[in-house]
Amino acid sequence: MDIDLKANTVYLADNLEVLASMPAESVPLIYIDPPFNTGSTQERTQIRTVRDVNGDRTGFKGHRYRTEKIATRAYEDSFGDYLAFLEPRLTEAYRVLASDGSLYFHIDYREVHYCKILLDGIFGRDCFLNEIIWAYDYGGRPKNRWPAKHDNILLYVKDPGDYVFNADEVERIPYMAPGLVGEEKAKRGKLPTDTWWHTIVATNGKEKTGYPTQKPLGILRRIISASSNAGDLVLDFFAGSGTTGAAALELGRRFMLVDNNPEAARVMLLRLPRDDTRFVNLLQESATTPRASRTQAREGTLAASGSV
Ligand SMILES: C[S@@+](CC[C@H](N)C(=O)[O-])C[C@H]1O[C@@H](n2cnc3c(N)ncnc32)[C@H](O)[C@@H]1O
Repeated sequence: MDIDLKANTVYLADNLEVLASMPAESVPLIYIDPPFNTGSTQERTQIRTVRDVNGDRTGFKGHRYRTEKIATRAYEDSFGDYLAFLEPRLTEAYRVLASDGSLYFHIDYREVHYCKILLDGIFGRDCFLNEIIWAYDYGGRPKNRWPAKHDNILLYVKDPGDYVFNADEVERIPYMAPGLVGEEKAKRGKLPTDTWWHTIVATNGKEKTGYPTQKPLGILRRIISASSNAGDLVLDFFAGSGTTGAAALELGRRFMLVDNNPEAARVMLLRLPRDDTRFVNLLQESATTPRASRTQAREGTLAASGSV
């Protein structure tokens, strides 16, 4: 596997394959925004984590745990399968995360609680730092409950005693009641809290790539400036339109982006700078030069052997 931790790379590949080839503790910052499993799945596999001195991972209070598959049930619940899909990828993410690294896991209200428990099992509960609420205001408003207008971003660190958090590098925001804090403080603004009001990518804005689930650059800028240092590598293995890569470059970091959808690769290669991006296509089992792949992207001939 062609892994170059010093380069900016886009992989068209199943992320598990890429993760499994990466060295341990090699990435200071991971942001992921996996797809929410909204389709109707016929089967679900339930798992549980059990204390076991011979278990394959360390969890809460440093105890060893093993994962047991309980049963596969034949009906609706897609999240059982969803967790079984996520678990090996998150376990690998933990392995490749640097000893002072951070993982941001972007999800929504439907799955966040199950994912929190899964991540607690992998990282240990004491490594959970924040649940960030990204609040926005867009789309329909049902009248039979409170309209759900937020996503959840769980922040875990590998070592709660030693991690990067550059509070002074985060863009400050206005106080809600500036009159209460004095002129100087009001002028300086405040560090955002764990509740982030930020608009979605505007349908006619210049940031828009056309990729359906594209996240705003403003969210990624905040994450990357707080939780990485200049020159660091930022990994996003559910990369979609490459928002993480675009923000990382703006802030003087490097990126490693993985997606198994040829359409995502096409969008990323058009979005990211031509001469500074390697493209590795594992679905086609061959590496392609950025220039060739960009031509393919423009002409719409990128390998379409993968599906999401
Ligand atoms: C919610 S989107 C990410 C959007 C992204 N944050 C952005 O700003 O554009 C999730 C992505 O995960 C990708 N994906 C799903 N399963 C994958 C897998 N096994 N390996 C790699 N990518 C995968 C999908 O193709 C999709 O583009």
